[in-house]
Amino acid sequence: MPQQNEERLQKVIANAGVASRRHAEDLIRTGHVEVNGVVVTEMGVKVTDRDEVLVDGVPLGKERKRYFLFYKPRGVITAVTDDKKRAVVTDYFEDVQEHLYPVGRLDYDTSGLLLMTNDGEFANMLMHPSFKVDKKYVAKVQGIPTRAQLMPMRDGLVVAGKKLAPARFTIISTDKAKKTAIVALTIHQGINHQVKKMFQALGFPVMKLSRTEYGPLTLEGLQSGEHRPLKPIEIQVLKTFAQKGLTH
Ligand code: URA
Repeated sequence: MPQQNEERLQKVIANAGVASRRHAEDLIRTGHVEVNGVVVTEMGVKVTDRDEVLVDGVPLGKERKRYFLFYKPRGVITAVTDDKKRAVVTDYFEDVQEHLYPVGRLDYDTSGLLLMTNDGEFANMLMHPSFKVDKKYVAKVQGIPTRAQLMPMRDGLVVAGKKLAPARFTIISTDKAKKTAIVALTIHQGINHQVKKMFQALGFPVMKLSRTEYGPLTLEGLQSGEHRPLKPIEIQVLKTFAQKGLTH
């Protein structure tokens, strides 16, 4: 007979706030998880409240919650592990003992503001589609767009048959000799490669991309590769935004 309250191990780890579900699977697969003193590396194991689950020797629920603002460099994968041994964002947190993971993602070749935490509830809240916090990007694009050419972004572009939410943009500068422009774009959705897809759809491929703002947060005071803990007020503001579905 199945035991009461049996749950899949990766779900229990994710619910304890140690990791996202996918990261929890990585932790299991790579031998970081013990159940009742035995390392478990296969998926599908079920546990109950009576089982003792340790992640790197630390019982579930014992990690203190950590929240960081990270200036992700270009050429780093937004993941906690990589089979091809490429640089991942957690490489920049070797000074932090807790199991951090990224809130959402930035592309390998995108730099900029990325939140890192071990608070699963907080991360899920911020990644939920109903959380409409503004994110500002600065893109270097090929070609010199006019305002009129970028205007469709303001109404909501249709990309791959999907209507995107309206975006705000400002053309910051243009380089006539190199035929490039720098454009700031503010969006609140988080569809994969969204900014690149938007510019591509209008005929201005992105050459370089950076996220400079996330709601009220900026990269001020940080160099590429550096991080700082979020202030309690910043965590509170993000939680309030998420709970109320507010935009910044
Ligand atoms: N949009 C993109 O195209 N790439 C990112 O990394 C983030 C937003």
